[in-house]
Amino acid sequence: MKKVVITGGSGLLGPSVIEEFLQHGYDVLNVDQKIPENPLCETIIADLNNLGEVYDVLTGADAVVHLAAIPRAYMFPADVTFRNNAMSTYNILEAAGTLGIKKAVITSSESSYGIVFSKRDLKPQYVPVDEDHPRFPEDSYGLSKIVNEQTAEMINNRTGMQVVSLRVGNVIAPHMYKNFPGFIHEPEERKTIMWSYIDARDAASAYRLSVEKDNLGVVALNVGADNSSMDIKSRDLMAQVYPDVTDFRETLSGYETLFSNKKAKEVLGWQPVHNWRDYVKL
Ligand SMILES: NC(=O)c1ccc[n+]([C@@H]2O[C@H](COP(=O)([O-])OP(=O)(O)OC[C@H]3O[C@@H](n4cnc5c(N)ncnc54)[C@H](O)[C@@H]3O)[C@@H](O)[C@H]2O)c1
Repeated sequence: MKKVVITGGSGLLGPSVIEEFLQHGYDVLNVDQKIPENPLCETIIADLNNLGEVYDVLTGADAVVHLAAIPRAYMFPADVTFRNNAMSTYNILEAAGTLGIKKAVITSSESSYGIVFSKRDLKPQYVPVDEDHPRFPEDSYGLSKIVNEQTAEMINNRTGMQVVSLRVGNVIAPHMYKNFPGFIHEPEERKTIMWSYIDARDAASAYRLSVEKDNLGVVALNVGADNSSMDIKSRDLMAQVYPDVTDFRETLSGYETLFSNKKAKEVLGWQPVHNWRDYVKL
């Protein structure tokens, strides 16, 4: 049985990712600085900022899936967020590379494009926002995710370890669908995330496929649902909120996502299957 270490498994996204790997026959170890509310597997408490602790918890793993982070900007002082997210990811990749672990998946974010936490009302340059869209974060959270993708390149250069960076969109765990009626008709809500979302269980399958696929080298992939989280058509959302943005790179006739997931589908053979419309009464 293959052993995968999942960091940050005690958080919001973690349980779905742990569940996905368990269901596919993996031996899973959760490493977090806190105990999960509902334990699904063994947990070791560790601080990933400490390289010695990281070596200890990764020893014997076939792959590492790194979710642990401070998950947004302005939750902690900027330097605390940067230090935690950049250092923990550096330590994970440094130790995994040195231990000869062949595959790592790290968690980047749609926030790395810079629009999400912008205080200058940044707009997308074009839609759907794909992996080639310029990135200009103003905050240390977005910056930490860009640095982490660079760290992935560095370790791949040194060791050849496969490192997939998943630029995850707004994570919706199953219990969160109850919040949808509050915003699906409000274009100003969620505009900075391009109204995107990703069901935690669909994100989880992208993590598993990132471990199971071979020869990916180092790659960054957006992870979002096929549709937006809104009950307003995507072109209408753009016309109302971002009327100056006229570069549409996909035919948008309905509720298609404005956060492109095309590359993840192509590279991983991934398909999100959870649609908010199946969980929310309109
Ligand atoms: N929630 C979202 O909408 C969203 C969107 C895009 C990206 N992400 C990314 O997804 C990942 C998971 O996010 P989440 O929403 O589950 O966050 P979360 O805060 O619920 O979970 C993160 C977990 O990481 C742990 N952690 C943080 N720093 C640690 C350290 N130094 N050592 C050990 N454990 C540490 C925390 O204890 C926590 O349990 C993060 O990398 C986040 O940046 C989340």
